[in-house]
Amino acid sequence: MMLEQIKSITSEIDNVVINSKDDLENYKLKYLVKKGLIQGLLLQMKDVPKEEKKEVGMLLNVLKKKAEAIYDEFENKFKEQEANTPTIDLTLPGRVSNIGSKHPVTQTIDLMIEIFRDMGFAVAEGPDIEDSYHNFDALNFPPDHPARDMQDTFFIKSDNEELVLRTHTSPVQIRVMENMKAPIKTIMPGRVYRNEALDATHLAEFHQIEGLYIDENVSMSELKAMMMTFAKKLYGDNLEFRFRPSFFPFTEPSAEMDIRRPGTKKWMEVVGCGMVHPNVLRAGGIDPEKYSGFAFGFGIERITMIRTSLDDIRALYENDIRVLKQF
Ligand code: FA5
Repeated sequence: MMLEQIKSITSEIDNVVINSKDDLENYKLKYLVKKGLIQGLLLQMKDVPKEEKKEVGMLLNVLKKKAEAIYDEFENKFKEQEANTPTIDLTLPGRVSNIGSKHPVTQTIDLMIEIFRDMGFAVAEGPDIEDSYHNFDALNFPPDHPARDMQDTFFIKSDNEELVLRTHTSPVQIRVMENMKAPIKTIMPGRVYRNEALDATHLAEFHQIEGLYIDENVSMSELKAMMMTFAKKLYGDNLEFRFRPSFFPFTEPSAEMDIRRPGTKKWMEVVGCGMVHPNVLRAGGIDPEKYSGFAFGFGIERITMIRTSLDDIRALYENDIRVLKQF
């Protein structure tokens, strides 16, 4: 009985087919674990008649060794195979890497610089932290002007002079005039800060591009022509815009240009401009008897809204990749 079982299992494992780790695992479960067939036979040893015990025991031992040897052989074989198999599956499709792009506001700055450079403007920059002389006084703000109020201006603690986060890029006009002689034809991009309530067209931190053109006999009609040329270069001929008279302490006369937002009836103010006030020329060391000039200050996020048809300025800074990657 026992001898037959041993023979039959021996011939089974002699012919066993093991092609995979799963096969090997099944082999182990069938023959080698505690509840497996070989252990089962060992348990039956106690019932084997004394005179047969020696032979049966020997054969069973041979079977057990053989079964274990087969297991070890295949286990080693699979281990080796695994070590030699590359872990990179070359047949998988490649991963698409995300390529970054310039922020739409940066794109607008680049585009505006390009357009104004074609019209002969150089580029200059000034500091974000300004003294109130450049941000206000030199720009002909009277000492009690409401724009100096805490409502609009972020003041910076300082012992000896009054410092502010610049509320517009116009102070860079003064810095350019201080450092250059007329004629001047310069644009000045940069970040500005206002203590302002946020809504669909207002941010507390945004960008402007200032422009300053000073020469002999510069006129208001040239300013208007330049604003119109710029708008057309940026958006093409279909753009609707309008000029309105306005007021700034540093220009006289002053105007603002509105652009009709594409696909809507809504006008949006995009730029303040005007003829540079004689007091401002004087503050910059330029003789108002000899020179005149115009200046303008565009809101770059507003221009970006029109360029991208976004209807809420805040969407530009929510960093939603689904919004940003469209542009
Ligand atoms: C000024 O800041 C003047 N310095 C512009 C100027 C320069 C006039 C030179 C004359 C000569 P204003 O506050 O209107 O003006 O702002 C200019 C532009 O910045 C606006 O037309 C608008 O496009 C943009 N802007 C103003 N406030 C905000 C805001 N809170 N959020 C986003 N854009 C704004």
